[in-house]
Amino acid sequence: MAAEAGSALGLSVAVLAESPEDAACAVASEVLLGSPLVEGDMRALADRVDVVTFDHEQVDLAIIRSLRDDGAVIRPGLQTLQMAVDKAHMRAVLVEAGVPVPAHTMVEGGPEPRRGAGGPAAEAIARFGDEHGWPVVLKAARGGYDGKGVWPVNDMAEAAAVLAPLRGTVLVEAMVPFEAELAVMVARRPSGDMVTWPATETAQVDGVCREVLVPGRLPRDVVDRARVLGRHVAEIADAVGVLAVELFWSDGELMVNEIAARPHNSGHWTIEGAVTSQFENHLRAVLDLPLGSTAPQHAQVANVNVFGGPEGMDPVALLPRGLAVEGAHVHLYGKETRPGRKLGHVTVCGDDAEEVRELAWAAALSLGTPRAGGLRLPGALEHQSGTA
Ligand SMILES: Nc1ncnc2c1ncn2[C@@H]1O[C@H](COP(=O)(O)OP(=O)(O)OP(=O)(O)O)[C@@H](O)[C@H]1O
Ligand SMILES: [Mg+2]
Repeated sequence: MAAEAGSALGLSVAVLAESPEDAACAVASEVLLGSPLVEGDMRALADRVDVVTFDHEQVDLAIIRSLRDDGAVIRPGLQTLQMAVDKAHMRAVLVEAGVPVPAHTMVEGGPEPRRGAGGPAAEAIARFGDEHGWPVVLKAARGGYDGKGVWPVNDMAEAAAVLAPLRGTVLVEAMVPFEAELAVMVARRPSGDMVTWPATETAQVDGVCREVLVPGRLPRDVVDRARVLGRHVAEIADAVGVLAVELFWSDGELMVNEIAARPHNSGHWTIEGAVTSQFENHLRAVLDLPLGSTAPQHAQVANVNVFGGPEGMDPVALLPRGLAVEGAHVHLYGKETRPGRKLGHVTVCGDDAEEVRELAWAAALSLGTPRAGGLRLPGALEHQSGTA
């Protein structure tokens, strides 16, 4: 999606892809095959381009540092990437800056004696659970995405089972009884100039984003406070490019769950829903070009993700049904379908919150997306059977 935005501006985007099947290869101006975890591959990319940027955080900070020291322009920079790569570091930086975050502590992963007193990690988790209540949420500090690396646990036995195979730091945090999850997207230039899009309500099921609503159920004052907090976090992180700040709204308070230093699922709605998309502003920011307006173009926007269903139907084959839904902007990423894999998204813009949500879900279901357990579907869809 960034390559598509780049093409409109006459920019060429070279992508470092692990496989020629990667979705970005179909739209990039140039493809280099390789891994961001291999120094030679990253160097080959850096040699080809004016600026290196990212669409995920599975990167090696030592490689990034070495490229930067040799003069490569890497945006966002090391300070931001370090926060995005390591949730424990991110939390420490936010706490130090006085930003509200969920109650948490940190332990080291690994097997510990199950009998008797247990090891230091078990003891720390037991103490934390006694103080903050069960369940608690365990998170691998590194390597997680889409809920992989996040485990709610109900007791010490479950915690020990999660911890045993893990290595490295594990975040232990209170289960936040949030009214809503939200995200605010910020685009920031190297000069510190920044813009934010209106905060969005996001709904995650089993840690995976299923829908994004703008503004959703968020009251005006929460949207305003989220914007201020987002700008503050972007400054703390010294972000360049797009930064997604994921928040919990709980008991009238906002707290930061985590950040992502790249365009993010919470901002896909901006392609049709805002004057400038997150992808275009990401490129403008990392190239130090003037940023575009983030004003929404519609009162209500709904973005529903498309996932592979149990029958393994390719959503492309279902386009005749999905595109029959009035106003549905369908984006399919060209990924091979697998049950539960995120394959695309649908955006619908309009004036009525319930109507845009219903149309976006109708299109996503028509494209084979399974229903989301625990998420009430709008209107008539709730009672329809099947996936269509
Ligand atoms: N402390 C918490 N209390 C309640 N729910 C939580 C908590 N931490 C995480 N969650 C739920 O799990 C989801 C995934 O957690 P988190 O965003 O930390 O992990 P992730 O896998 O890195 O996600 P992403 O897909 O954004 O990369 C959250 O969006 C939220 O729904
Ligand atoms: Mg998250």
